[in-house]
Amino acid sequence: MSSINIDGTDVPFEPGQTIMDAALAAGVYIPHLCHKPGISPHGSCKLCTVDVNGRAVSACTMAAAEGQKIENNTPALNEVRKSITQMLFIEGNHLCPSCEKTGDCTLQAVGYHLGMLDGHYPQFYPRREVDASHPSLVLDRDRCIMCELCVRASREVDGKDVFAIGGRGTGRHLIVNSATGKLADSDITTDDLAAHICPVGAILIKDHGYEVPIGRRTFDLHSVAETDLGEVKLTKTRHHDE
Ligand code: SF4
Ligand code: FES
Repeated sequence: MSSINIDGTDVPFEPGQTIMDAALAAGVYIPHLCHKPGISPHGSCKLCTVDVNGRAVSACTMAAAEGQKIENNTPALNEVRKSITQMLFIEGNHLCPSCEKTGDCTLQAVGYHLGMLDGHYPQFYPRREVDASHPSLVLDRDRCIMCELCVRASREVDGKDVFAIGGRGTGRHLIVNSATGKLADSDITTDDLAAHICPVGAILIKDHGYEVPIGRRTFDLHSVAETDLGEVKLTKTRHHDE
């Protein structure tokens, strides 16, 4: 079988797999936010940046190929990833102590994983519209990191087209494809993957807040690496499945 080499370890890959696919299948964690197995790759968050034969590439979009010598878990790459995470934090209003997703949030968990202690950069304090129009869902755009997982899940898995990203630069924001632009007038339901895939606290299910105590939430008990390697499921997801 063909193999790539990640941080000195040989990792097998199947034809068609990306570096991320091969790494996750082999139990090697590459930090990521906009990637989710089963959803088409997007390549937007850049957290999965690795060095392939000396060139920086996104592991989630780059095809694995024989002979690739990949650096992943290095202090330099993790420092860049930490800066990206800090930029995501200051670009939105990530007030974790009052967020229902705290402890179940991948952005927060990645921040902990990378040893992030502060936002480092000045806060943007955006004021984007909260959409609480839907009977079962709420959308807080100030927590959205524009990973487009909900956009892709709605299109590719749910067979709908509920979300999109609109605007430019700092004006970019999540839009809802309905006549009024409101979630209540879209055809999203809580059965949709798009209602549950958000890695942060931007899309939340109404009437189900704070049910898992702090200290027993996903990332209180498991590292983000264990979770993203598929060894544990988010408590929120598990709760919904029960
Ligand atoms: S609402 Fe959530 S899933 Fe959708 S783009 Fe924003 S952060 Fe990503
Ligand atoms: S996970 Fe690869 S760019 Fe986001």
